[in-house]
Amino acid sequence: MQILVLYYSRSGNTKKLAQAIAQGVETVDGAKAVLKSTAEVSKEDFQNAKGIIAGSPVYFGVMAADLKRVFDEFVSLRKKMEGKVGAAFATSGDPTGGKETTMFSIIQAMMIYGMVIVGDPMSATGHYGTACEGEPDEKARENGAKLGARVAEIAGKLGQ
Ligand SMILES: Cc1cc2nc3c(=O)[nH]c(=O)nc-3n(C[C@H](O)[C@H](O)[C@H](O)COP(=O)(O)O)c2cc1C
Repeated sequence: MQILVLYYSRSGNTKKLAQAIAQGVETVDGAKAVLKSTAEVSKEDFQNAKGIIAGSPVYFGVMAADLKRVFDEFVSLRKKMEGKVGAAFATSGDPTGGKETTMFSIIQAMMIYGMVIVGDPMSATGHYGTACEGEPDEKARENGAKLGARVAEIAGKLGQ
């Protein structure tokens, strides 16, 4: 079972969080993380995944244009994505820089793709996904790994 961990990252913060999330995915039996940037991802990656965890730096309070471009360009896959698991992550420059609105911008796109949205588990923050300011510290990486594991576990149970 593949879980796509998709990210856009210009200066590396979001990529580091994506890597921690991918490690969490791989802790679940039978789950394989496919870690791809927005420049690398293909329509096959979307179709082959049982879940997608997508992340972006906060750009003006929403996802970066390059991640939105992927959702825009892959719109023909919408019906094929219905019922798959979706989750979001973000990194910001400021402590209150718009991490949650950015995760919601990703979640909105996923909902319109018909995906089943999950947040991070209670053992992490029990909120909308994984987010941090700047480079992820150990706690943020740990929380990211928990999000990855949760998405893989739920995708396995849904059996889409
Ligand atoms: C065009 C642009 C817009 C940004 N807008 C915000 C913002 O609204 N709020 C914020 O906290 N940080 C903002 N930032 C900072 C980035 O979100 C932050 O540095 C992020 O961790 C960068 O991620 P990356 O290293 O993966 O590229 C912005 C950065 C750029 C380049």
